[in-house]
Amino acid sequence: MKSVRQAAVIVDSNVAALHAATATESIQSAGMAATAIIFPAGEEHKNLSTYSRLMDSLLALRPAVDRDAVVVALGGGVCGDLAGFVAATALRGLRWVQCPTTLLADVDASVGGKTAVDHPVGKNLIGAFHQPSAVLIDVLALRTLPARQISNGLAECVKHALIADAAGLDFLETHAGQLLEAQPDLTARLIAHDVAIKAKVVSADEREAGIRAHLNFGHTLGHAIEASVGLGRILHGEAVSLGMVAACRLAAQRGLIGADLAARVESLLLRLGLPTHQEGLDVGAVESIMQHDKKARAGRLRLVLPVGLGRVDVFDDIPPQQVRQAVASLGQ
Ligand SMILES: NC(=O)c1ccc[n+]([C@@H]2O[C@H](COP(=O)([O-])OP(=O)(O)OC[C@H]3O[C@@H](n4cnc5c(N)ncnc54)[C@H](O)[C@@H]3O)[C@@H](O)[C@H]2O)c1
Ligand SMILES: [Zn+2]
Repeated sequence: MKSVRQAAVIVDSNVAALHAATATESIQSAGMAATAIIFPAGEEHKNLSTYSRLMDSLLALRPAVDRDAVVVALGGGVCGDLAGFVAATALRGLRWVQCPTTLLADVDASVGGKTAVDHPVGKNLIGAFHQPSAVLIDVLALRTLPARQISNGLAECVKHALIADAAGLDFLETHAGQLLEAQPDLTARLIAHDVAIKAKVVSADEREAGIRAHLNFGHTLGHAIEASVGLGRILHGEAVSLGMVAACRLAAQRGLIGADLAARVESLLLRLGLPTHQEGLDVGAVESIMQHDKKARAGRLRLVLPVGLGRVDVFDDIPPQQVRQAVASLGQ
């Protein structure tokens, strides 16, 4: 394969204003051409029409953009998913490099090679597995990220600790304040650690046949809560926080973990600026959305529950009444 001469930097409108010049100048100083392609920020733009416009802009760069060009995704998870799908499909697959700029993308979305856009009937329904050639993380990009978005990413770090890494929980508890301020050294340590956890799970099970399902901890309930509250009203990490609280309470009620661990998780989430309570939660709506969840197989709801510190398991035999109670407890 020839060396890269042309990079197409796909970036959302917020990140473009803050970081696109730094990225394109850095690529150019390495002797390559770099062109920024900007799309409007926000999950509501992670769809086929934005994909199509990005593809138009990319193909307009031919012949400079050929099979040897590289797509650079500069931004959060929305940008990574969109640009990754463009890379997966343009000219039957281009190499791509991910430069995540949100904590959520650093620790979660940039690992695993899943790319996708949303469809009106559901999130992430159109996409491909397409691994990036490299992921470049600069923690200083987080300096411009709003505090609520930092907390959003920390929810996934709590999840990683609970599914695979007891010591990670201590780290989050000890450094909560500095992590909320994205203190660079500690944040870099956290990201390196979390990427290793996700990479280990994903490489053991890239196509989600077995233990990758553990990454759904807090998500089956979280997605349903997110949808019932109204998409966009709470952030993904906030919904996952609520999902993890309900899962821990349910696990404690079934004797899978002690009530002390459930309480410890809740107090950590609160310290990290994440919700453990949702005013006016519509339990019936959450339940019916969960029934339609794509992860519910053969009419059974599959839930990932903690079974110890840093350990989870998948259950498909939890009585609906118990699930309802745990969800209802979030609104009380
Ligand atoms: N592919 C995967 O495995 C995977 C995993 C988890 C989540 N995701 C996807 O990721 C998306 C959520 O990602 P997200 O939370 O990063 O959302 P996002 O990309 O929308 O970013 C959140 C907000 O922060 C802004 N922003 C990004 N970086 C910034 C910075 N450095 N300074 C200031 N503002 C900045 C964005 O413009 C946006 O407004 C969802 O679409 C989800 O489906 C994918
Ligand atoms: Zn998530």
